[in-house]
Amino acid sequence: MDAPWWTRAVAYQVYPRSFQDSTGDGLGDLGGVLRRLDHLADLGIDVLWLSPVYPSPQADNGYDISDYQDVDPLFGTLAQLDELIAALHARGMRLLMDLVVNHTSDEHPWFVESRSSPTSPKRDWYWWRPPRGGFAPGDPGAEPTNWQSFFSGPMWELDEPSGEYYLHLFDRKQPDLNWENSEVRQAVYAMMRWWLDRGVDGFRMDVINMISKDVADDGHLHDGPPIAGTGLGDGSASYLCGPRIHEFLHEMHREVFAGRNGAFLTVGEMPGVTIEEARLFTDPARAEVDMVFQFEHVGLDHGASKWDLRPLRMRDLKASFGRWQAGLADVGWNSLYWDNHDQPRAVSRFGDDSPEFRRDSATCLATLLHLHRGTPYVYQGQEIGMANYPFASVDDFRDLESVNHFTAAMKAGQDPAAVLTSLRVMSRDNARTPVQWDASPQAGFTTGKPWLPVNPDHVDWNAATQRNDPASVLAHYKRLIALRHENPVVALGEFAMLLPEHDEVYAFTRTLAHEVLLVVCNLGRTPYPLAELLPEAASASLILGNLPDAGPTLRPWEARVLRIA
Ligand code: NOJ
Repeated sequence: MDAPWWTRAVAYQVYPRSFQDSTGDGLGDLGGVLRRLDHLADLGIDVLWLSPVYPSPQADNGYDISDYQDVDPLFGTLAQLDELIAALHARGMRLLMDLVVNHTSDEHPWFVESRSSPTSPKRDWYWWRPPRGGFAPGDPGAEPTNWQSFFSGPMWELDEPSGEYYLHLFDRKQPDLNWENSEVRQAVYAMMRWWLDRGVDGFRMDVINMISKDVADDGHLHDGPPIAGTGLGDGSASYLCGPRIHEFLHEMHREVFAGRNGAFLTVGEMPGVTIEEARLFTDPARAEVDMVFQFEHVGLDHGASKWDLRPLRMRDLKASFGRWQAGLADVGWNSLYWDNHDQPRAVSRFGDDSPEFRRDSATCLATLLHLHRGTPYVYQGQEIGMANYPFASVDDFRDLESVNHFTAAMKAGQDPAAVLTSLRVMSRDNARTPVQWDASPQAGFTTGKPWLPVNPDHVDWNAATQRNDPASVLAHYKRLIALRHENPVVALGEFAMLLPEHDEVYAFTRTLAHEVLLVVCNLGRTPYPLAELLPEAASASLILGNLPDAGPTLRPWEARVLRIA
């Protein structure tokens, strides 16, 4: 059987509020996305993943949805979304919508109704529980379990009128849907079919491995191990890849996709997923999802939490990527990413964003990722080497994860300067500053005041100056994407890691039938004589590199793709 189309594809993520404003209100919108489609077509993109544009109170920038079947006026209209589908299809691209169904907004009519009374027919659509035995509602420690929210504080919020708590893995404005209830599942599947009927080509599924919770027959949920210094616990064993997760995803596939004509794509975002689980999720024979986003490599510089910064060790990165390449070699499929709207900018985090090495490290990281086996995702701005924002004070942050963390850390008596340091490095707002289209005052993003400031470095780092420069980061991305389209070995070749112990040079081969590519990337500032590291490189021919005039020395942040057979 032919390999599925998405093995040759490259996806591009648009975070609409920061992509392009077309109305001058300082917030990106669908009109802006429509205006910039040629940028994507020119890059060679196959799939656009659109972060949420649905009606939402915007507590979590749209990941808190109050109506799954419309567009928020902030972003435009449903008619514009139809226009986007048509415009993408006309350019040979496909649209992935963001499917956020672990939770809704607390302003979604389903939750409003569920909350209205303990006897509401939709009460069971969410996770309602009485206080812990022996506690009155609102007592400290009365929450039904000790779980700590991803966004700080407990995962339970008290509803005063009923004296019961509801579960929210994320913010209190994001109550979790109860997937045990079959009406919930059917409502979600009907909504997904509605979008497919409209012409969308698939979904990126937000934290989809959290929809099944480990609940006892009597409805009891289990406490998790305590997290030092918080008074709370880690509930992940109860909600990461829970007991019915495979059943739910298989059912979703059957109810939504089976028997439908078309070339669809489903991507499950799965924090904490293991290789063993990912093989099950993406085994085509099991009909669950096509590929996963796994999180191992973006946790390597975290300590006890993401705010607890650790230096990244190259060996750990190699070991992690290598394990995932090997683990999904014979069955299943992986997504490849450095960046997205939840991660700091890759060139600042894994590369070297000093003026001297920013361009070279951005192109080196891109080469490394795009030559792996899996489907690469480009996050808006990554293709022009956008870097972290120079946040000066805690008041500069907008993201509720960052804001909640700061509040919780101050309550816990932490040092504000130290908290600011980790926010500057890890805050999701780094990824959310406006795309830098040109050198004009608001970088061509808006004619108004942008909702989050434009990075001052946009005068030097922007799409306009890179567009006609063959040495630019943008030009390099184009070459990498074309290489995948043209060479089956890039899409499908077997992966073998070389030099696993080396502290700076990341090297591997990709092999398909008689064709062998050797990929060598220097992820540091030390030059290395290439032939000493990899004698096979001597007789190889260069098919793509990120620096001109390749010689015997592998220069700082140099990347080469060589053909050795
Ligand atoms: C993952 C999304 O990518 C993130 O932005 C969001 O805050 C959480 N899921 C909750 O929906």
